[in-house]
Amino acid sequence: MPGWLELKTFPCPPVINGVTAPAQKTTELNAPEHISLFDLDAWSTGQLAAIERALYRWVASPADAPAPAGLGDAMRYAVLDGGKRLRPLLVMAACDAVNGDAAVALRPACAVELIHAYSLVHDDMPCMDNDVLRRGKPTVHVQFGEARALLAGDALQALAFELLTPGDASVDAGTQARLCRLLAQAAGYQGMAGGQAIDLASVGLPLSSAQLHEMHRLKTGALLQASVMMGAACGSASLAVLEALRGYGDAVGLAFQVVDDILDVTADAATLGKTAGKDAAQDKPTFVSLMGLEASRRYAQKLLAQALDSLEASQLENTHALRALADMLVNRQH
Ligand code: IPE
Ligand code: IPE
Ligand code: MG
Ligand code: MG
Ligand code: MG
Repeated sequence: MPGWLELKTFPCPPVINGVTAPAQKTTELNAPEHISLFDLDAWSTGQLAAIERALYRWVASPADAPAPAGLGDAMRYAVLDGGKRLRPLLVMAACDAVNGDAAVALRPACAVELIHAYSLVHDDMPCMDNDVLRRGKPTVHVQFGEARALLAGDALQALAFELLTPGDASVDAGTQARLCRLLAQAAGYQGMAGGQAIDLASVGLPLSSAQLHEMHRLKTGALLQASVMMGAACGSASLAVLEALRGYGDAVGLAFQVVDDILDVTADAATLGKTAGKDAAQDKPTFVSLMGLEASRRYAQKLLAQALDSLEASQLENTHALRALADMLVNRQH
């Protein structure tokens, strides 16, 4: 099935007064019937504007709390210019689904993007994937040197948890604790960092299907699933609803990395904004190397169907954005 929504980003947005403006995004809509009544383009435009504004305000803004010795420059470079912002959109969509508080959800939306951005900075470093291109620009270590890239990642990770724990009373203590726990578990050894460790240890090895699933679920799926669960934590949901949303997050999280593996083979660097063909070049086990291109595509569609089934099982009424995002994640071109 061809992608019904093409989200185009301009990877090198203009720099105004030393601050990079938000990436502009345009979309082309050609929705299949099951989501044709929901305008993802219109919904995303509003959400992305709020997310970009919040990221600009929170990421080491020179006006209120400048980061020393050029660290803030590296942090802003890593976060503020481009990226599809899929994890923040999932947070906001899940919050919508449970009629949660969008002002509260903006914090986990930005926090998960900071963790994601930090994971990309480290993923690109010479000791990991050794990549020179990210979001259409030189990677952070190429631009700022390895030591500052390392520290920018560290600082972004810490800032993510600062965002989840505001000093005022805008987020109640129980919600703060739940959000911190969800994000910490998804970012750490039980999630992204653990998956990245498996990834590095698996170079050149023929992983079994079960091992590959485990690696992808951890390195990429965990943060996407946590995005959904953090959005849900900004409202009230029964255990059954949370279970259904967890199933949705699991399916889209895994599907996301299956598609990343496919695009590494099928798309070019100009479209991706990052180096293409590097998984094979670095002998990384991927879904494409395990099952081939066509079977990987079919598998991604199967996972999409599973995600939509989970939403159905949730019996939530307002899952339009979650449905449309799942479709876009699986059918994206970059
Ligand atoms: C790329 O993630 C890295 C993976 C986890 C596979 P995205 O495709 O979401 O990257 P950005 O945020 O849009 O740059
Ligand atoms: C990275 O996976 C997942 C992360 C935790 C950052 P990849 O190494 O496949 O991501 P890309 O292809 O470089 O974006
Ligand atoms: Mg990697
Ligand atoms: Mg990589
Ligand atoms: Mg990849």
